[in-house]
Amino acid sequence: MTVVYMESERLWFRAPEQSDAAFFTQALQDPRVRRNLLVGRYPFNVASEEAWMARHSEPPAMDNQTDVVMAFGIKGEDRALGASGLHRISAIHRNAEWGITIGRPEEWGKGYGREVARAMLKYAFETLNLHRVYLRVNADNMRGIKAYKAAGFVEEGISRQHMFVEGEYLDMVQMGVLRPEWRD
Ligand SMILES: CC(C)(COP(=O)(O)OP(=O)(O)OC[C@H]1O[C@@H](n2cnc3c(N)ncnc32)[C@H](O)[C@@H]1OP(=O)(O)O)[C@@H](O)C(=O)NCCC(=O)NCCS
Repeated sequence: MTVVYMESERLWFRAPEQSDAAFFTQALQDPRVRRNLLVGRYPFNVASEEAWMARHSEPPAMDNQTDVVMAFGIKGEDRALGASGLHRISAIHRNAEWGITIGRPEEWGKGYGREVARAMLKYAFETLNLHRVYLRVNADNMRGIKAYKAAGFVEEGISRQHMFVEGEYLDMVQMGVLRPEWRD
């Protein structure tokens, strides 16, 4: 097993490894997965995924990293199940945008999404000292919206027809959690 950075009840979390690249290259381009993601609108190969991972796993020299990405997997398994990141971390506003992908659709709906959300919120608030974590989700991604609400996110607003997905414009839901209202 490679180095583990943090754990939740059923999952481990660590920096993405080069050995994850083939899995993520396949998973992020699976039509079932990529329809709800910002990435995956253009084809990409393992070499570009490896380069992306190398950029996102450099040890930070100072406490001003703007993106933190973790691969996560099921305890007892070495291979990754998905990835989750805090992006556009603002040192001034103490906020960040959170994202998640579970790359194996057969594992959806088993509560892993909310478990990752809870673990990443704990990391955001207790390790990175953030004040607010927000996310954007397609309005028809009910699986995601239910998982995020279960983890403590509340709906804050809708951007009408913000996303173009499989031939139609979809509304985008903005959700957020503030540290004072967050319960571990
Ligand atoms: C969105 C995603 C992270 C959610 O993770 P998950 O592990 O599937 O979520 P959970 O199991 O914690 O919760 C899923 C909820 O949706 C419900 N659900 C399951 N299948 C469903 C379906 N077909 N339609 C509607 N709801 C469904 C579950 O019952 C559960 O709701 P509950 O709290 O009422 O029981 C995961 O499905 C995923 O990675 N999808 C592909 C990529 C993606 O959408 N990323 C997020 C972009 S914002």
